[in-house]
Amino acid sequence: MRPKLAVLVSGTGSLLEAIIRQDLNISFVLADRECRGIDIAKQAGIPCTVLRRTFWKRKDAGFDAAFSNARLAYTLETLHFLRRQQIALVAMAGYMTILDQTMFVALDGYAGRILNTHPSLLPAFKGKHPVRDALAYGVKITGCTVHIATPELDSGRILGQAAVPVLDGDTEAVLHERIKVEERKLYPQIIREQFAAL
Ligand code: GRF
Repeated sequence: MRPKLAVLVSGTGSLLEAIIRQDLNISFVLADRECRGIDIAKQAGIPCTVLRRTFWKRKDAGFDAAFSNARLAYTLETLHFLRRQQIALVAMAGYMTILDQTMFVALDGYAGRILNTHPSLLPAFKGKHPVRDALAYGVKITGCTVHIATPELDSGRILGQAAVPVLDGDTEAVLHERIKVEERKLYPQIIREQFAAL
């Protein structure tokens, strides 16, 4: 049987569209909320499900036990779901939930088999607002990074990068879109390579 690929989405799904365009044979699309990514999967005839995320960290909280427990439960549900579908490789494509580390460990989890793309040249500008942070810092070149996802956010082994110039007058939205043009080329190419290496 061919190894199966799942794509995880939360948003507009333009990376998912790019992966579909490259004939990468996606077996499943999983979302943490209703989003355009799910509509794209449906239109393309790809099996898809929303495992709705219902927990959020309280802004003022330091350690929040209820949040940690809910996140672990959600991660296990996601993990079991992918296992039942016999997924071999997972590509996060604008997926906005930080899963519990259980997802990334060996044996039970998908250690080394979860890919992510991040709109900065890692290790610069990790976190939630990499494009905004790059603009605020005043860098002249930024870009995107495809890497192995690990429990530590935006930190796994780098598989590929593309540079993008920051232009005078760039807004966060304009610059992010220019970065996404590169991500739509780089990510499918790297997923294909990782798939071939399975
Ligand atoms: C990409 O820039 C990705 O790196 C980031 O979210 C964006 C996803 O875009 N994590 P889309 O939802 O696929 O259009």
